[in-house]
Amino acid sequence: MLGKLMRKKPIVQEVTMSDQIALLKSRKIPAHVAIIMDGNGRWAKQRNLPRVAGHHEGMKTVRKITRTASDLGIKVLTLYAFSTENWKRPKVEIDFLMKLPGEFLSTYLPELIEQNVKVEMIGNFSMLPDHTKDAIRKAMEATADNNGMTLNFAMNYGSRRELVESVQKIASLVAKGQLAIEDIDELEIESHLMTAHLPEPDLLIRTSGEVRLSNFMLWQLAYAELSFTDVLWPDFDELCMFEAIKDFQSRIRRFGSVEGEKEA
Ligand code: FPP
Repeated sequence: MLGKLMRKKPIVQEVTMSDQIALLKSRKIPAHVAIIMDGNGRWAKQRNLPRVAGHHEGMKTVRKITRTASDLGIKVLTLYAFSTENWKRPKVEIDFLMKLPGEFLSTYLPELIEQNVKVEMIGNFSMLPDHTKDAIRKAMEATADNNGMTLNFAMNYGSRRELVESVQKIASLVAKGQLAIEDIDELEIESHLMTAHLPEPDLLIRTSGEVRLSNFMLWQLAYAELSFTDVLWPDFDELCMFEAIKDFQSRIRRFGSVEGEKEA
């Protein structure tokens, strides 16, 4: 009798991370996700820690979300790590932020390789300190043949600067007689952007409750779905990422048409 009662006890099924990933993968996964990783300073302040402690914790989130994105089958993950405007920050903070790619890549490069992740960068490379350049170059070389997810760091990146450079390249082609003015179209502009080889972002996530683009991929985000969360970047975890993808999957993307995009 007791045995029978015990058998009738409901079995609570634990929904594992892999169950959630499988469920999300049964619907359309954004090919390119771009993230504005915001809130590191506030995370540190809440704990009476220096701002750089928030950036260091934020680096650990980069590791976590890279793995999650790769497991979800996302093709490109672009992370806004340092903007052209971030040079206005105190020197101690800039120096710390410039050291993070080196620390991240020297610690986690083996697991990025194991995950078949390809490391890339957009932004003005030449202005970075040598140690930052060396770390990024080394990771790009070591992962150049990987064909899994592209982990694209936006370092010293500014969208307006990128557009100015695109216009300069086009003007130079016109000046040399290699391009007619009437042949300048959207594809021509896109072909000179730093993201020319990548699909446009389908989803932009910004953490920390701020609702703005802060000079990030202004051209490329024209038709992206936007997802804002109050969670501070160091607290952004796998479940937050799942929520953002679920939210994306509930949107009907029309790209200016009246018909919604069909499910894959
Ligand atoms: C914005 O938060 C965050 C940044 C400017 C830096 C983001 C960098 C990381 C998350 C680490 C990057 C890691 C690698 C591997 C490159 P904030 O400091 O403006 O936050 P606040 O608005 O709360 O002050």
